[in-house]
Amino acid sequence: EELIIEAPASIANLGPAFDVAALAINPPSDIVKVKVTDGDGVFIRNSGEYASSLPSEGNGNSAYLVATRAIELAGLRRRIEIEVIKRIKPASGLGSSGATSAAVAYALNKLLNLSLSEWDLVELASYGELASAGVRHMDNVAASLLGGLVLVNPVIRRVIRVNFPELSIVVVIEGSKPNTGFMRSILPKAYELSDVVANMANVAQLVASVLMNDLDLFSRVITNDRVAMPYRVKAYEHWGVVKSVLENHGALGVILSGAGPSIAAFFKEKPQVNEIKTELMSAGLSPVVILTKPSNEG
Ligand code: HSE
Repeated sequence: EELIIEAPASIANLGPAFDVAALAINPPSDIVKVKVTDGDGVFIRNSGEYASSLPSEGNGNSAYLVATRAIELAGLRRRIEIEVIKRIKPASGLGSSGATSAAVAYALNKLLNLSLSEWDLVELASYGELASAGVRHMDNVAASLLGGLVLVNPVIRRVIRVNFPELSIVVVIEGSKPNTGFMRSILPKAYELSDVVANMANVAQLVASVLMNDLDLFSRVITNDRVAMPYRVKAYEHWGVVKSVLENHGALGVILSGAGPSIAAFFKEKPQVNEIKTELMSAGLSPVVILTKPSNEG
């Protein structure tokens, strides 16, 4: 039996909501073909635009980790063949590993008759994040699985998805990052109470702004993070110039996408993407600039 699944990319954290919120976006998306037959073993083949930048085997490969875990949950011997058509640039901060992991988890839940609950499906997919982040953060995989804006809560094992307004989103892919694990390791181990309270207020009002479709509120809270972005943007030389170019074009908010290096900006009206790109190039960058939108489907 074979399933072909498409999973959207995602923007994790959405400013202040580190590890809690993520937004599915499409384009780009990954496509995964999963085939289960009698026999033994997990076999991965990478194809597509970014195939060459992926590790093909073993514990460095997200699809492999999810498939191995799924077999464990099924308690069966099966041969699993997976082709990953990699269209989301790996390590770019767009949930590339999360999208592949979500697609593989979704397919194997069906093909192995696992009958997983929504949360258990998110947990299964999160095994793929061990390859890139070293921890099973659940924000990207949840967004790719469910679409829309997702809010994950491992404390009570619950994920909530809500529709996201039809804003235009510009993603600037520029530079590279060591890896997500490193970008997590540079965050403080402890925070001032006042910073924690500020972030709680911003996340609460960010969610409210989406539910109320209040774009002024959205614009004021989304850039207001004291937990991750201020520490991470120091690692990215392009942050300052990209932010100011996007703001000059009328962005409601400019944020680091996940752990970076991609930067995402939200717009009420479709912005002039070609002009944005030209301005970034004359500032010495060589970015890929994508005009995209929220994907309210997973
Ligand atoms: N929430 C994760 C992080 C997303 O910021 O480390 C990584 O894509």
